[in-house]
Amino acid sequence: MSKSILSSTPEVKYHEEAAPTDFAAFKTIVQSRRTVRGFEAEAIPDSVVEEILDLGLLAPNSSNLQPWEFYWVKGADKKRLLADYCMGQNAANLQRL
Ligand SMILES: Cc1cc2nc3c(=O)[nH]c(=O)nc-3n(C[C@H](O)[C@H](O)[C@H](O)COP(=O)(O)O)c2cc1C
Repeated sequence: MSKSILSSTPEVKYHEEAAPTDFAAFKTIVQSRRTVRGFEAEAIPDSVVEEILDLGLLAPNSSNLQPWEFYWVKGADKKRLLADYCMGQNAANLQRL
């Protein structure tokens, strides 16, 4: 009977050196990150949004199941509808600075 991956650690021969990182820069990002609830009217370039979504795909997740779906909601009407689906909470309403 084969061993369950849940009860034993599979033998892994793969080895990869950790990429060089700037710990100070990482620390600054982690410590300064905040939830943003107000936005300026200036549009974010699509290329920046796409890059952010690509980076989001790298987030760690349980069993690497990657259970997420990302929706890029455009247009005030759809955003208002989405706020309703979020139980009308303030954080989901359009807020311009
Ligand atoms: C998975 C997830 C779901 C969240 N859902 C909501 C939400 O429904 N409404 C809300 O106002 N904030 C939501 N937040 C934001 C958290 O409330 C916020 O991250 C927390 O208050 C800490 O604040 P900070 O991100 O500025 O450090 C969510 C954050 C995460 C990671």
